[in-house]
Amino acid sequence: MSLERLDPTNPDPVVIARAATLLREGRLVAFPTETVYGLGANALDPAAVERIYVAKGRPAYNPLIVHIADPSQAMDVARAWNDRAERLARAFWPGPLTLVLPKRPEVPDSVTAGLDTVGVRVPRHPVAHALLAAAKIPVAAPSANRSTQVSPTTGDHVAKSLGDAVDLILDAGPTAVGIESTVLDLSGATPTLLRPGTISVPELESIAGPIAIATEGSGESARPSPGMLDKHYAPRARLVLADARDVGLRVEQERRRARTVGAIVISATLQSTPTVFRMPGDARGYAARLYDTLHALDDSGCDVIVVERVPESAEWLGVADRLRRAQSG
Ligand code: TXA
Ligand code: MG
Repeated sequence: MSLERLDPTNPDPVVIARAATLLREGRLVAFPTETVYGLGANALDPAAVERIYVAKGRPAYNPLIVHIADPSQAMDVARAWNDRAERLARAFWPGPLTLVLPKRPEVPDSVTAGLDTVGVRVPRHPVAHALLAAAKIPVAAPSANRSTQVSPTTGDHVAKSLGDAVDLILDAGPTAVGIESTVLDLSGATPTLLRPGTISVPELESIAGPIAIATEGSGESARPSPGMLDKHYAPRARLVLADARDVGLRVEQERRRARTVGAIVISATLQSTPTVFRMPGDARGYAARLYDTLHALDDSGCDVIVVERVPESAEWLGVADRLRRAQSG
């Protein structure tokens, strides 16, 4: 495995050029985006895309997001672009928003898992942008972790999870957003939220008008994203959600069962230990810390993580979704 450390705001062009060449040759390059690290491959090369699925152990029914350097390249992979897409792109690109659009035939079925749509995103991270601009190809990139594990927010997380399965890891330190992009499906009559992120529903609606929210098992008008049905984002430890006033009690109960217990709290009063993590009280600050905290608790050998329930308001939807999915781990 090869790992290069880069200045996150001013990446070395020589390293970027080497990474871009690897991508053009069909190899795998892990790179930082503002959300999480991605495992990149040439989106127009089916053999390269196949390597992603093998490296991650990812089921073939879960489609990949295609990353582009500039909104003007969206039509290289999508065959329809309407006024709503234009407004959303202007408002949120570059940034943590993935738009699902009708796909062009040039995009291999392996990228879209056989769907007639493709997820497209223009990331905001300077390293991602430099890499995409140098490679001059659309880059398919899921989160750079083994399938079902917690997504990586540092180069070390990528190395720990994928190691030798990647040709090159570009490490630019921790990511700023910390959870995966908001995924919005624009292929139907009503825009549909497939995966909540840090861009909230009210923010999306202020630009796109009313949107539907896909729920698991819902009907055709709000069909879930294929990959969202699985256990996902799960740490090795068992995760238990508790109201603030019950966190201390739950921690004690688990300790009495001789478990190594970690905790993630916002306001709950709890004696401070190395495995008690106090999080920011705002959703964006919390999201930025969440995965690094789950990785740290896993590394410290916790069997159980007691997590204080987060607020139910719109801006917490992305964090609440990831915590709920992590519970099934
Ligand atoms: O922030 C992110 O989105 C990160 C960074 C690397 O960009 N990527 C990421 O990729 O989280 P991944 O593969 O872990 O998640 C992609 C999500 C899945 O839930 C998948 O089902 C959905 O996007 N998706 C991709 N293409 C789709 C499509 N054509 N239709 C519906 N859902 C799609
Ligand atoms: Mg993922």
